[in-house]
Amino acid sequence: MWKKWFSDKAANKQIDYNTIDLTRLPCHVAIIMDGNGRWAQKKGLPRTFGHRAGAETLREIVRTASEIGIKVLTAYAFSTENWRRPADEVSLLMSLLAEYLDNEINELDKNNVQIRFIGKIEELALTLRKKIEKAQAQTAHNTGLILNLAVNYGGRAELTRAVKIITEKVLNQELALEDINEAIIEENLYTANIPAPDLLIRPSGDFRISNFLLWQVAYAEFWFTETNWPDFKSENFLQAIRDYQQRERRFGGIKNTKKR
Ligand code: FPP
Repeated sequence: MWKKWFSDKAANKQIDYNTIDLTRLPCHVAIIMDGNGRWAQKKGLPRTFGHRAGAETLREIVRTASEIGIKVLTAYAFSTENWRRPADEVSLLMSLLAEYLDNEINELDKNNVQIRFIGKIEELALTLRKKIEKAQAQTAHNTGLILNLAVNYGGRAELTRAVKIITEKVLNQELALEDINEAIIEENLYTANIPAPDLLIRPSGDFRISNFLLWQVAYAEFWFTETNWPDFKSENFLQAIRDYQQRERRFGGIKNTKKR
């Protein structure tokens, strides 16, 4: 199915993979799926229509990322602060997530995608949690794209959780205070064992991090566009990758020096 979808697109020349260097892809791309509400308002539609359209965009970008060989895609679907939105909007977002899992999981599985979730999943409704557990278990063996969905996620909450886990280990004398280092902190984040994002994409014209992957984006390359998420297409994704491939990453060093 996906193969067909991709070849159809390629036949229409809508996606030209030749313009990116497939040997120098960002390993991990993180996306803040912003601008759904503004997209809908501009069209005189309720905000919820924007979220529905945004879920379609996620489908397209997951397929493209998987097809070109991106290893990890992390998408911000719902933040720890999004509970402040009107109840009907929160409820629609949760339903969209459930629908996404119901409708996409077999297709994702067939295409070797491994789905994971980061965030306070334990606070979500039981029916949704069950779908999440099932989706994770069904795709756990897959070796292709890791699709990491951030749901009820906040970077500060993630760091607070890590501090608590580490402190408990120190108090139980499983860990010595002097042994706490960056690697230990990373091991206690939701993203343990996943490389840090190389590229962070934020559509819709805002230039904020919005409590997303605060620790992990320390050396990510940021890419912004005015396009709202529902209008964001595979070509925008490839443009972000092309631009990323022009950047010089120094990780605090200087050009042409080896990392110590
Ligand atoms: C931000 O746009 C977007 C969100 C808070 C939700 C993102 C959710 C989806 C794209 C769809 C559901 C997800 C899945 C996994 C199926 P905004 O509402 O803040 O837009 P605005 O800034 O224009 O108001």
